[in-house]
Amino acid sequence: MASPVDQPEAITSSPSLSATSHAPATSHVLPSTSHAPPATYPALPSTSALSAPHVPDHFVLIKKAGAGQNGHVFYCIPAITVSSLFPPHQEPVTAEQVIGSQELRASLRRSIVAVKTTKIGSKQDFDQAANEIYWTSELAQDARNAGLLKHFPVLLSIGLNDFAFNRHWMSMTAIEGCTLEKFMEAAEGRDGGVPAEFVLHVSVQLTEAMSFLFNHEILHGDLHFGNIMLNAFEATMGFPNIMIIDFGAAERFNSKALNKEKDWETADVWKILFSLARLVPYQCEVIAEEWVDFCKSIVEARDGETPLEEMKDQLSCFATNAIETSSDETKKTVKSLVVKAANAAGTLISDIEVMEAVHNFMNCHQGYHAL
Ligand SMILES: Nc1ncnc2c1ncn2[C@@H]1O[C@H](COP(=O)(O)OP(=O)(O)O)[C@@H](O)[C@H]1O
Ligand SMILES: [Mg+2]
Repeated sequence: MASPVDQPEAITSSPSLSATSHAPATSHVLPSTSHAPPATYPALPSTSALSAPHVPDHFVLIKKAGAGQNGHVFYCIPAITVSSLFPPHQEPVTAEQVIGSQELRASLRRSIVAVKTTKIGSKQDFDQAANEIYWTSELAQDARNAGLLKHFPVLLSIGLNDFAFNRHWMSMTAIEGCTLEKFMEAAEGRDGGVPAEFVLHVSVQLTEAMSFLFNHEILHGDLHFGNIMLNAFEATMGFPNIMIIDFGAAERFNSKALNKEKDWETADVWKILFSLARLVPYQCEVIAEEWVDFCKSIVEARDGETPLEEMKDQLSCFATNAIETSSDETKKTVKSLVVKAANAAGTLISDIEVMEAVHNFMNCHQGYHAL
């Protein structure tokens, strides 16, 4: 682990969400939320005396959500939520009471966030963390206005150069589900493959999300199966919403050079859809005509570099009807596949896991009654 003397120098400017500026060694909570613990609660000595904590002290760690090339992501509850739900000097609450209370369980679940941590090391590490924070924040308002927030996590709080924790971190909307990568692993070789309507649904949502980015001149910069997630509990027309994550490599394509990269990213979209379409069994009777049209279109798009907008319009003509008219059985099959993949990846959160996390937190803090 890098010591403070190895940290990037020139950390003097005021905090900013700019992709290029350096921030001071401090953490910030964005205006809409406040995750910092009240001063009256002493900080944990450390989650464990033996290993470094995985998340900053003002988050209650539930479990790992995933890891990529740069970061580790954890499901957490802001400590302040626990503090306010279970005031330390009130009547003791037993685990049974909490588990038995639908209201408390729901409040805890609603407050679950995803905390992504990345190492503090080189200037490149800083730039990447700041870039992800910048773009995740930049996107949210426009996505909300366009009714597309279902496709992007919302930034909640940040800690750039958090030397006390020795990581950069950001908290954002938690997605309970799985990556497209894990989904495909679970679906590969499954009897009956993947329903065609699901692939059409992903196509519609992926082109919708990517068109939104392109219309705002944003290049994701790292689009692949591991950076697209399926939300197991939020659906549109019965199919799981897709979420685009990981904006660490995002940039604005306002120059000719990056326009080329936009074409490459468009080709990545067709490649992803093409791989997904391979999981659909050939004898697909329900929507035979639309399916054949679709397969032809993505092959043509991939080989002929069809612009995203053009394909999006074609898709909405023939895919929407197939999605709308798909059976409850098909939707159930897809949901159970997502749940199966998420289970295999360990990314579904049980009430017991939430309670254990809260219980540990309370045990580690003075002033709390043991559950
Ligand atoms: N908001 C989130 N909610 C739940 N899991 C997430 C979230 N963001 C990322 N993950 C999980 O963590 C993994 C790594 O996150 P990612 O941002 O892609 O990191 P990296 O920059 O290292 O690639 C993802 O593949 C996914 O499994
Ligand atoms: Mg990633």
